[in-house]
Amino acid sequence: MRIIIEDSYESMSKKAALMLAGQILLKPDTILGLATGSTPIGMYKELVRMHKEEDLDFSNVVTFNLDEYVGLDKNDKNSYHYYMFQNFFNHINIKKENIYIPDGMAQDLEEECKRYERIIEEKGGIDLQILGIGKNGHIGFNEPDLKFEATTHVVKLDEETIMANSRFFNSIAEVPRFAISMGIKTIMHSKKIILLASGEEKAEAIYKAIYGPIVPKHPASVLQLHPDVTFILDKDAAKFIK
Ligand code: F6R
Repeated sequence: MRIIIEDSYESMSKKAALMLAGQILLKPDTILGLATGSTPIGMYKELVRMHKEEDLDFSNVVTFNLDEYVGLDKNDKNSYHYYMFQNFFNHINIKKENIYIPDGMAQDLEEECKRYERIIEEKGGIDLQILGIGKNGHIGFNEPDLKFEATTHVVKLDEETIMANSRFFNSIAEVPRFAISMGIKTIMHSKKIILLASGEEKAEAIYKAIYGPIVPKHPASVLQLHPDVTFILDKDAAKFIK
C-alpha cells in the first residue's frame, strides 16, 4: 500500500489526475472504474483541463462507474449518470458506447447486476479503480456489514449515508434508500486502486482502513489485502497517519 499525503484538496486532485493520465498514456484502451461524490470533482476538473490543453486522449478509454441510485432516471440531477456527464464525460472525447453505469431504473435489478458484472468481465476487468470513502468506511456503496459483499449487488443504504447524501437533495425524504453497487470482489479484482480522501471528517475512516483490523464492518479495510493500492489524502484526512 502506498500513501501519498498532499497539502491541499487541489494538489490531491492534481496528483490523482496525473496518475490516471499516466495510466491512459501507457495503455490508451484502459478500463477505468470511476467514483462520484464530492471528492473526485477536482480530479475530473483537472483531467478535463489535461484533455483540453494537453490533448489527453480518452477515445479508447472504457469506464465503469461504481454505483447508481435505484429509482433515479438518467436525467435526474441527483443520479450518478447525470453527475458523470456534467462533471466529466461531456467535456472529454470518450465514446458514449464506452461508458457503463449501472441502470438504477432496470425492471429486474438482480439481472442488471449480473449484466453489469458480465460486461466488466468481458472487457477484461478494471485496470484502475478510483474510490472515495464514506465516514463509515464504505467504498462504492458497500456499507458496514457482517460479510464482504461479493459482486455487483443491490444495497440498502445506511442511515448515515442517507444523511450524508441528503446535502445534494431538497429533503432527506428524496434520497433513494437503495442503490446498485459493484461489490468488494469486483473492486478487489481491479489491477490497481486509487482511493481519494479529503477533510478531517474522513480522518478516522482512513486510519481504520490503513491500520485497523480487516473486517466487513469497516469495508475499506479490505484494501490492505490488495497488491497495488494507493491512498491519496489531503493533510486533514491524513491527520491520524504517522
Ligand atoms: C460514490 C461512492 C461513494 C463515495 C463516498 C464518499 O460513487 O461510491 O463511496 O465515494 O460516499 O463521498 P464524498 O466524496 O461525497 O465524500
